[in-house]
Amino acid sequence: MNVEEIPPEATHDLRWRILRGSRPGAPVVFPEDTRLGAFHLGVRHDGTLLAVASFSTEATPYRPGRSAVRLRGMAVDGPFQQHGIGRLLVTTVVDRLRAEGVDVLWCNARDSAGGFYSRLGFDVEGDGFVLPESGIAHHVMVKDL
Ligand SMILES: CC(C)(COP(=O)(O)OP(=O)(O)OC[C@H]1O[C@@H](n2cnc3c(N)ncnc32)[C@H](O)[C@@H]1OP(=O)(O)O)[C@@H](O)C(=O)NCCC(=O)NCCS
Repeated sequence: MNVEEIPPEATHDLRWRILRGSRPGAPVVFPEDTRLGAFHLGVRHDGTLLAVASFSTEATPYRPGRSAVRLRGMAVDGPFQQHGIGRLLVTTVVDRLRAEGVDVLWCNARDSAGGFYSRLGFDVEGDGFVLPESGIAHHVMVKDL
């Protein structure tokens, strides 16, 4: 199992299937994908991409003045969920960001995945909110690095 940097387009299939429920025409491109400093990680096994996540520089009002990276599009392929692959991906990026001197990793976490982020040391911040485009309940979750 390898964690490797992948191009933005390589995230689209898992984003569409896992995060968009394979809805025809559902958007899989984020505006941050190609911003300066953005990068994308994948977990690959035997040539197959099993998980993806994307990262870009973006401050959070919950940690004013701290250098921050936002996590988006975290998706593990269905049969491979609950096997430690998400943990591997996040611990890998945490090591990388710590080495780069980044202070904070944060995301808009789906409430259904909140337990995953809690297990990895993220704290819930603020009130919950529902994203209008998806109707899915979220909280901001922040990990101090
Ligand atoms: C949420 C997701 C990224 C987690 O990745 P994963 O590879 O399945 O998780 P892991 O096996 O690495 O789990 C690490 C820990 O978190 C726990 N965990 C995983 N998913 C969880 C969930 N949805 N709710 C509560 N706890 C969860 C695991 O039980 C494990 O606990 P442990 O410390 O006791 O071993 C993955 O299941 C997924 O893609 N889900 C569907 C899409 C999604 O919700 N993405 C996140 C959008 S914000």
